Amino acid sequence: MITIKDKTFVPFLEPAKLEKRIIELADQLDKNYQDKNPLFIVVLKGAFLFAAELFKHIQIPCEVTFVRLSSYQNMESSGRVKQIIGLEEDVQDRHVVIVEDIVDTGLTMAQLTAQLSQKGAASVEIATLLHKPDALREDVNIRYLGFEIENRFVVGFGLDYEEQGRNLAGVFVLSEATEPERRTAQSDKATK
Ligand code: IMP
Repeated sequence: MITIKDKTFVPFLEPAKLEKRIIELADQLDKNYQDKNPLFIVVLKGAFLFAAELFKHIQIPCEVTFVRLSSYQNMESSGRVKQIIGLEEDVQDRHVVIVEDIVDTGLTMAQLTAQLSQKGAASVEIATLLHKPDALREDVNIRYLGFEIENRFVVGFGLDYEEQGRNLAGVFVLSEATEPERRTAQSDKATK
């Protein structure tokens, strides 16, 4: 059990389990993007460790870039249009793979995929470490998924609670004891 500020979290996904699954995702991507020189767009901050592990195992020629999006602020996603910050590459006719930490409501990924398609990408797919299907509100097609998880607040392996916990080597879930406060924790404490 670990404590971050006022919340306690318990182990949920061990580092070895994360690594094993990420290697499988890398293998799938290698097969599907052979000779396509894909452009991987890593969504910061949350996806930084997922991306680091993933790219250690991707063998094919590819390019990697990093973007920020506007913050995750409200109990549920704010619904405002999120802007892509820092994308310098031309995505026209490129095969793009978004690398994301977690798909919750799906609003972020719905908006990002739409914006990249508008910019003329040849294809846009999503690779996310985690997904909470019960929270999904948008029609988002997740082609590469690490783990489906319950609709509970998690930290670690890139994901934060009040900017803390990103450096944890595994994923931790908010302890049942504090679960009634889960939506509060998720509401205004997690940032990209
Ligand atoms: P969506 O637009 O609701 O899918 O928002 C996805 C974003 O919300 C993720 O990229 C995270 O930054 C944040 N998020 C959603 N659930 C969690 C969580 O359990 N822990 C930390 N951040 C989360």
